[in-house]
Amino acid sequence: MNAVVSAAALKIQIRAMQPDDLPRVLEIDQQSFSMPWPASAYQYELNENPDSLLWVAETGAAETVRTVIGMIVVWFIIDEAHIATIAVDPEYRQRGVANELLRWALKAIIQKGFHIATLEVRVHNIAAQNLYRTFGFEVVGSRPRYYRDNNEDALIMTVERLDRIDLDEPKEISMVNNRNNRKERHDP
Ligand SMILES: CC(C)(COP(=O)(O)OP(=O)(O)OC[C@H]1O[C@@H](n2cnc3c(N)ncnc32)[C@H](O)[C@@H]1OP(=O)(O)O)[C@@H](O)C(=O)NCCC(=O)NCCS
Repeated sequence: MNAVVSAAALKIQIRAMQPDDLPRVLEIDQQSFSMPWPASAYQYELNENPDSLLWVAETGAAETVRTVIGMIVVWFIIDEAHIATIAVDPEYRQRGVANELLRWALKAIIQKGFHIATLEVRVHNIAAQNLYRTFGFEVVGSRPRYYRDNNEDALIMTVERLDRIDLDEPKEISMVNNRNNRKERHDP
């Protein structure tokens, strides 16, 4: 199942992460986080953890070379889905890619019968918090000094009723870095 986009827009596809994606995924991870995951963490999630799902967003039409530009990892823990990580290549940010990755993941979470999604986010990571709020996540608590690199607090953000979130609202993915000029759509 693929992402489909309008002609003038950046074409992306969202699909399950494969072992071959790891070099690009690690690159994006290192560009995105001060405490990136080691390769072994992604390998564990891909190959051993039965309770995780991983997707990538990649550019390119079917006949062209594709490049992974973002990823999302979800853990399923008891009755909650935990957004373990999400990141987009800095060159492709603010074009709606994370929006589509999260929309895709939340649809998959609902399809698996889960209705609660939760995550931790740095208190100063306003971009990510805004992204999550777009999908109905609300701050429900905090974890003081959660991040070991700078002792930054984590906010716990949760959406308790995913069935009440409209995940079909069309969004746009634009060719340019322009938050007000988006085009796009697709489904898991
Ligand atoms: C957070 C991140 C994944 C967003 O990816 P993105 O593809 O640029 O996000 P999108 O273009 O899909 O934007 C979706 C929403 O996120 C919010 N957002 C994204 N970038 C933002 C920014 N720089 N400032 C404020 N809000 C921002 C907005 O609410 C936006 O919706 P809008 O455009 O309708 O206002 C990206 O900045 C990233 O990879 N950051 C580093 C890794 C990270 O922090 N991950 C989250 C860990 S909790």
